[in-house]
Amino acid sequence: MVDLGCWPGGWLQVAAGLVGPGGRVVGVDLAAIDPPLELANVVAIHGDLSDPGVLAAVREALGAEHADVLLSDAAPKLTGVRDTDRAREEALLESIEALVPALLGPGGSLVLKLLEGPEAQQIEKRIRTRFESAKRTRPEASRKGTSEQYLVAKGYRGAG
Ligand SMILES: C[S@@+](CC[C@H](N)C(=O)[O-])C[C@H]1O[C@@H](n2cnc3c(N)ncnc32)[C@H](O)[C@@H]1O
Repeated sequence: MVDLGCWPGGWLQVAAGLVGPGGRVVGVDLAAIDPPLELANVVAIHGDLSDPGVLAAVREALGAEHADVLLSDAAPKLTGVRDTDRAREEALLESIEALVPALLGPGGSLVLKLLEGPEAQQIEKRIRTRFESAKRTRPEASRKGTSEQYLVAKGYRGAG
């Protein structure tokens, strides 16, 4: 499993339990998890998910070409300036979109945080075509007032 935007590590801990001792979870974040999580099946990589060097490091840490599940709770640093924030969200989602074929194996699942906006909708539309099924959901735990939602997509059709 890969967890993009993993700091401070809440999802990593849940994912570690889900994959069990024989599985592997690789997280990436701009922020370092400090102190590190002491979990034998988790590797947290400190870096920018759009950096090709980070992709290589994730692959190496996975010990496999592809993951079964790709999680992304990554969110850009918001400024409160609408155009700037939308541009940041769009750039981040585009980087994540590019990582889907690079990291997810055929038949795999994606959980992707989306903020409301036309750019996100376009990217979501493209991503949906690559999966057998996809739906949006908003967890009860989401903070009031945020526009965040999650796209849960299953049955990745592969890069082709
Ligand atoms: C809401 S937090 C994630 C919380 C995490 N799911 C948890 O349960 O602990 C969003 C994270 O996305 C990260 N992020 C944003 N842009 C990123 C990028 N380009 N590369 C890596 N991480 C990024 C931020 O540093 C931030 O820590």
